[in-house]
Amino acid sequence: MAFVIALAGKGGTGKTTLAGLAVRYIIEKKKMPVLAVDADSNNCLDEALGVDVHATIGKLREESLEVIRSGADRPGGMSMEQLFDYQVQQSLIESNGYDLMVMGRPEGPGCYCAANNVIRKYTDKLSETYPYVVIDNEAGMEHLSRRTTHKVDILLIISDPSTRGIQTAKRIRGLVDELKLEIVQCVVIINRVSGDEVTELTRHAYNLGVEVAGTVPHDLEIADYDLHGKPVFQLPAGSRALKAFYAILDSLNIP
Ligand SMILES: Nc1ncnc2c1ncn2[C@@H]1O[C@H](COP(=O)(O)OP(=O)(O)OP(=O)(O)O)[C@@H](O)[C@H]1O
Ligand SMILES: [Mg+2]
Repeated sequence: MAFVIALAGKGGTGKTTLAGLAVRYIIEKKKMPVLAVDADSNNCLDEALGVDVHATIGKLREESLEVIRSGADRPGGMSMEQLFDYQVQQSLIESNGYDLMVMGRPEGPGCYCAANNVIRKYTDKLSETYPYVVIDNEAGMEHLSRRTTHKVDILLIISDPSTRGIQTAKRIRGLVDELKLEIVQCVVIINRVSGDEVTELTRHAYNLGVEVAGTVPHDLEIADYDLHGKPVFQLPAGSRALKAFYAILDSLNIP
């Protein structure tokens, strides 16, 4: 079974940026293939990784439903499930060291939960063939209660450098416990900090009983990459944010 790393946190805290870097970390440090899962209906992980998306699960599902509705023949007499399995395989975006699966937005009147259930099912299914899975989630806590993420080895809760951000991180942490989610280790990372805030924020987190695994600096290089539409996956190895994030991952005992 794969070792699963998932990211959660409120909007715009840097989940997708750090998810992209987590994929790169595994490839570089563990030398193993990774399944990257974009479980945000407003997919962005492709941009962070620098690949093009040719298919999403949401879209596939609509197409499959269309086949059922129209009563068209399925190739080779495949069952609907076999056809869908095949299509999901085909929809994976293959790149160096990782494959990307994108949930996307279900088109038409389909319910979000359906695409969500499909992504969970295939994340579980594919976990048997990849040693590592990295899941980028949408903002907020809803996906936790919908359980997009099934069994998770490390949940990285990303906070912005504000007291509110840390309070949200604490709420997410609380929900994980409340829902009795299958999460082995759950840590908070404060992203985009500038030097002088670190002590204050860490103290605040401590007072709230939130354990902070580390902080990642606000990095002008990331801002520049963002501005020019360059994938953060290609950040130079000397990037301050990348080095800080790698050091946090090093400390988390990823096998
Ligand atoms: N350490 C950093 N230094 C500078 N800019 C950063 C850093 N981390 C993230 N950013 C920038 O912050 C913005 C939000 O980042 P990102 O899209 O990764 O957040 P998110 O949590 O995935 O957002 P959403 O909730 O919309 O999915 C982006 O413009 C990104 O370039
Ligand atoms: Mg995101």
